[in-house]
Amino acid sequence: MQLLGRRRECAALDRTIAAVRTGESRVLVVHGGPGVGKTALLDYARGRATGLRVLRAAGVESEMELAFAALHQLCGPLLDLLPRLPDVQRAALETVLGLRAGAPPDRFLVGLAVLSLLSEASEQSPLLCVVDDAQWLDRASAQALSFVARRLLAESVALVFATREREPALIGLPELEITGLRDGDAHALLDSLTHAGLDRSIRDRIVAETRGNPLALVELPRGLSPTQIAGGLGLLRAGDSLPGQIEQSFLNRIAEFSDQTRTLLLIAAAEPLGDPVLLWAAAERLGIDPAAALAGGTDGLLAIDERVTFRHPLVRSAVYQAGPPRARRAVHLALAEVTDPAIDPDRRAWHRAAAAAGPDEEVAAELERSAGRAQARGGRAAAAAFLQRSVQLTL
Ligand SMILES: Nc1ncnc2c1ncn2[C@@H]1O[C@H](COP(=O)(O)OP(=O)(O)OP(=O)(O)O)[C@@H](O)[C@H]1O
Ligand SMILES: [Mg+2]
Repeated sequence: MQLLGRRRECAALDRTIAAVRTGESRVLVVHGGPGVGKTALLDYARGRATGLRVLRAAGVESEMELAFAALHQLCGPLLDLLPRLPDVQRAALETVLGLRAGAPPDRFLVGLAVLSLLSEASEQSPLLCVVDDAQWLDRASAQALSFVARRLLAESVALVFATREREPALIGLPELEITGLRDGDAHALLDSLTHAGLDRSIRDRIVAETRGNPLALVELPRGLSPTQIAGGLGLLRAGDSLPGQIEQSFLNRIAEFSDQTRTLLLIAAAEPLGDPVLLWAAAERLGIDPAAALAGGTDGLLAIDERVTFRHPLVRSAVYQAGPPRARRAVHLALAEVTDPAIDPDRRAWHRAAAAAGPDEEVAAELERSAGRAQARGGRAAAAAFLQRSVQLTL
């Protein structure tokens, strides 16, 4: 993708990376509304990070209650460095990552252990850690990363967050606010799309009404009929929020798909790991024929390769919302059935809970066990969430 505009933002990211190359550490919180271009900027930063080791994590809306889920993603590739940590720190981190049993460790110790781990890794090569969708970080990870961000000094570590909202955990850290594209860049973006050839007056209106939000510029005109576009009508409905309207445009496109395709999208929306094996296993349980489901394509809304990815997070939420409750429950049940209880008992319990139509003692008991495990890892918020669901499912 060709990034339009964003000179100031790219320069800030370039400075961050340059600083890390010279042995300093940097933190940057990139924030702005949905679709404004935060992930695109993180991608830019990754593209510029030659010679740096890049670690990634992203908050996942449906996993906000799974303690340390994001930390798991970020630190996963560094586990071989754990033996270099002081014993207490190592034990703390291993406990919260579920690698060993033990009493819930002190929060401070977990933060310190992550700091040490990143610092160890940076001795091998400078590090760029990108944490996308920070508004959906589970609280335990957010706290640990906030701790790290406030204590980085000269480790050659850059920690770059992208978030829709100013998260309490990130307040006070250096910020980079992202707003819509300037008019010239917004026009250039519209021109680069297939529905070019729009009247100047209509393009002006689209640019003005979307306030240069690139996602809206790319997606909104696609959801409209040629007549609507030609008339410049119905582009934006007064009173609806921009993200709401982008979502609606995705919904209109999803409505065109066959049942099989829609169900496949719904499975992908309900499966937070983006694991194609899980996706297809669940699809098979629901009687979906892969060839048929993908025959008509997905209008570029879903990509399935080594990972399952939506075109944009708003597609995921649109798909999930659009799913009738009964279909959603069936999908969660299928996902629970294909999730290995030995490897991922908590996620399985979570899916089973989402699949339950009414009180279910067995699922409630499973959630209670998950709560116990979460508590042992020091995930109090997760434990509370599991228990709350468990109570809801108890007669
Ligand atoms: N500067 C840009 N030039 C061209 N296209 C862009 C630019 N910024 C973003 N886009 C495109 O706009 C769309 C939305 O951008 P992006 O996904 O980065 O938004 P976001 O801020 O991360 O949204 P969210 O908060 O929902 O995650 C993407 O398709 C992206 O490729
Ligand atoms: Mg994003």
